[in-house]
Amino acid sequence: MMRSKIAGIGYYVPERVVSNDDLSQVMETSDEWIQERTGIQTRHYGKKHEETTSSMGAKAARVACERAGIAPEEIDFIIFATLSPDYYFPGCGVLMQRELGITHKEVGALDIRNQCSGFVYALSIADQFVKTGMYKNVLVVGAEMHSMGLDFSTRGRNVTVIFGDGAGAAILQPSEDPNRGILTTKLHSDGTYAEKLAFINPGAHGGYHQHRLEEGERQEYGYPPADTFGEIFITPHMMANGQYYPNMEGQFVFKMAVQKFPEVIHEALKEAGLEASDINMLIPHQANLRISQFVQRQLRLRDDQVWNNIQRYGNTTAASVPIALTEAWEAGKIKEGDLVCLAAFGSGFTWASALIRW
Ligand code: UT7
Repeated sequence: MMRSKIAGIGYYVPERVVSNDDLSQVMETSDEWIQERTGIQTRHYGKKHEETTSSMGAKAARVACERAGIAPEEIDFIIFATLSPDYYFPGCGVLMQRELGITHKEVGALDIRNQCSGFVYALSIADQFVKTGMYKNVLVVGAEMHSMGLDFSTRGRNVTVIFGDGAGAAILQPSEDPNRGILTTKLHSDGTYAEKLAFINPGAHGGYHQHRLEEGERQEYGYPPADTFGEIFITPHMMANGQYYPNMEGQFVFKMAVQKFPEVIHEALKEAGLEASDINMLIPHQANLRISQFVQRQLRLRDDQVWNNIQRYGNTTAASVPIALTEAWEAGKIKEGDLVCLAAFGSGFTWASALIRW
């Protein structure tokens, strides 16, 4: 069976650095609280109206292409993972394609919505396309411009302080060496707790999963009557109550994360006939430094076997794994023949891992 390999990786983070003290100017929070609970010191925010999720994705993609030794024109297929797309639709895949100037070519673009595990899911899909011989150069991107959609009042502080903007990209190609490349990917989901970490409005749910409004309430909140066609996505009630921001039950998510991360890593290792001690570099999704440290302890890994950069970038969701992977590689911590493990957990819940023989 043919394997796919990562032929080039790259990342982009916007210039503007936002410290915890900067955030404490606009909401009730503190550097001490944020660092103690999450490890985060700074995050980067994109330039409003000038940068977007897809434009940042394109910047990371160009670096990955260059390192893979290909021109963007050679890309056969795009997979774009994000939870903060430029538009409700169409997705960022086609927008980034346009940004890369490769619309003249027969390129397919797929957007995937798997939040923090988005990049690992995307990598797995790309792996299947390459392994089967369908495509030769698949561009996988994870990018987020969270800063445009966060609640910067004290009401939103439990979510807002965590997230940052950025993008990461990889080019997948067939591997000439059967022992090198993606050894396995493991993907999981459980929608039972979908609303525990979610960005619900605007959406077409119409109260399906939640409290359904009585007729009187519908009038009061500015919805059309229930027995008419159509509904409005954003109502005055949602506006007044800030129901157009992400919400998270942090402690619940934390408990699930520390259980699922080691589980899905062990699953991949078992399938590949390897042990945790064989891992040269673990790239965990940067959700919380405490979560990564917990996973490290569980797997009995040394500090030099795990890459953490949440301190500088916060949680960049779909971008966090490829940014961390690129940084570790740039720092010379990933060499040919090394076993690299990617792992992620997030909203859905979805969680995933990948083992790569570099
Ligand atoms: O990437 C996707 C997956 N996401 C995760 O894995 C995140 C998992 N969860 C976490 O990382 C943590 O739960 C958080 C960092 C989000 C929160 O830490 P926590 O220790 O679970 O805090 P908490 O939500 O239980 O809140 C504790 C207190 C509350 O005050 P009271 O009720 O005890 O008075 C919050 O209102 O801290 C308060 N609080 C804050 N205080 C200052 C919440 N956010 C902040 C804040 N600054 N930013």
